[in-house]
Amino acid sequence: MSVLELKQLTKKFGDFIAVDNISLKISEGEIFGFLGANGAGKSTTINMIASLLRSTKGEIELLGKNIAKNSRFAKTNIGIVPQDLAIYEDMTAYENVSFFAGLYGLRGELLRDRSEEALQFVGLEDKHKSYPKNFSGGMKRRLNIACAIAHRPKLIIMDEPTVGIDPQSRNYILNSVRKLNDMGCTIIYTSHYMEEVEEICTRIAIVDHGKVIADGTKQQLMSMIKDTKDVWIEVKSTEAIDQRALSAIQGVTALSLEEQTVKITSKVEVNNLNLIIQLLIKQGVEIRSIDEQAPNLESVFLTLTGRNLRD
Ligand SMILES: Nc1ncnc2c1ncn2[C@@H]1O[C@H](COP(=O)(O)OP(=O)(O)OP(=O)(O)O)[C@@H](O)[C@H]1O
Ligand SMILES: [Mg+2]
Repeated sequence: MSVLELKQLTKKFGDFIAVDNISLKISEGEIFGFLGANGAGKSTTINMIASLLRSTKGEIELLGKNIAKNSRFAKTNIGIVPQDLAIYEDMTAYENVSFFAGLYGLRGELLRDRSEEALQFVGLEDKHKSYPKNFSGGMKRRLNIACAIAHRPKLIIMDEPTVGIDPQSRNYILNSVRKLNDMGCTIIYTSHYMEEVEEICTRIAIVDHGKVIADGTKQQLMSMIKDTKDVWIEVKSTEAIDQRALSAIQGVTALSLEEQTVKITSKVEVNNLNLIIQLLIKQGVEIRSIDEQAPNLESVFLTLTGRNLRD
């Protein structure tokens, strides 16, 4: 059975459509990734699943039950780790976790035990009585996670849980995600970091302008571009490059310019490297090196959306 099913889910803010008719099924045991650029509609979708935002149209079913009609059931079975930290600086780490566990319905001894367990799970057991205002960014993110898992929800939603933290905390969080998954939780994971999503997600949805434009395992998504190759050209500067002319070269399917790198995805059967180089030289670009690269999820994203993930 699906743990979560979205049926034609839509959210409008005035005339603006932030989430556009998304239908999706997430099965038990998945670590499901939402990948999309800024403003794609990831948080809006997630906030509707967590009942923090009302949908304009469509339905959300958790374990076969409509969440709007079964709000208590939804509350006890979903845990959300929000993108913006939701912790109280003037409450201790333990008080924060037990406050949220209480909101999710836990009481008495169970509330105490589970709150301790959640702090232990994120490695903050010795910070029990400390105040988050003295915590590092990574510790705050970990506390944010503890607050969402103490009630042992079936579905845990993490919205950019690793933004702005040190590599050690990031590893800790990624390991926690795997551990929660091993314990039977289904997870929805949102991130800008392609490598993270590639590493831990069992299935990935690419979201753009409020729509899911592709979803599948990494292998399935990669097979969408199996007839293309990536060439990276290092240059002194990409400032003077006419993107339109470069994109118009036969066989080019995606193009992205970084400060000193031109990343081009193009069809394998078209030999267009000479044309590309000639055009760059004509535009006065100083070329430093040329490398063929193995395509990755970023190439899929670029090919489908026409833009960089981190624009
Ligand atoms: N309360 C709101 N009122 C009006 N517009 C909103 C509101 N919340 C979000 N939006 C708009 O909806 C779109 C989707 O926003 P959302 O926060 O879901 O994107 P996101 O994919 O989570 O982006 P990010 O990666 O930056 O977190 C954006 O264009 C945003 O400006
Ligand atoms: Mg967001």
